[in-house]
Amino acid sequence: MKLITLLIAAVGTTAFAQDDIKASAERGKTVYLQSCLACHQLTGLGIPGAFPPLVKTEYAIGDARRVVAIALKGIAGAITIDGKLYATGMPQPDLTFPILKDDKNVADVLNYVRTSFGNDVKEAITPAFVAEVRKEFAERKTQWTEAELKSFPAKGAATETK
Ligand code: HEC
Repeated sequence: MKLITLLIAAVGTTAFAQDDIKASAERGKTVYLQSCLACHQLTGLGIPGAFPPLVKTEYAIGDARRVVAIALKGIAGAITIDGKLYATGMPQPDLTFPILKDDKNVADVLNYVRTSFGNDVKEAITPAFVAEVRKEFAERKTQWTEAELKSFPAKGAATETK
């Protein structure tokens, strides 16, 4: 009996989390149209040679903290995505688009990206998580480089003792 109750509770949580990411993604489409569309396009496929796709790339659907960091600070210099080189650069979005000063909008647009264009990430990025990452990199004034993103430090890694 206890086990059944636990099972029901667990299923309930999952269903809730998925409704959550869907609702967030729905709101995020508007944010995407305003702040990502011009470069990454309606399809999320980008433009060959200029803007990379957001479809199943390691950065778009990978580590949540890293993708939040990208959405806030952008990328400078050359980066290889799906074996193709891009060097256009992504200007710092939180400076270009005032709507991205709002943690909820950042969470929504990333949940949209991570569940659209064939992407199927299950865990929602929450506004609280965005707030944490924003605070962590508040002092940072420059865009990320590919080298930094490749070895993106795990949270707290710098302070961990060996
Ligand atoms: C002004 C054009 C521009 C805008 C606006 C823009 N990006 Fe980008 N984005 C780029 C370029 C160019 C790159 C490749 C980096 C480079 O050339 O250095 C990139 C790379 C990325 C990457 C990592 C590479 C990949 O393809 O997975 C992610 C993730 C990403 N952008 C997400 C976003 C999201 C989310 C938004 C909207 C909040 C956004 N970008 C807005 C131009 C843009």
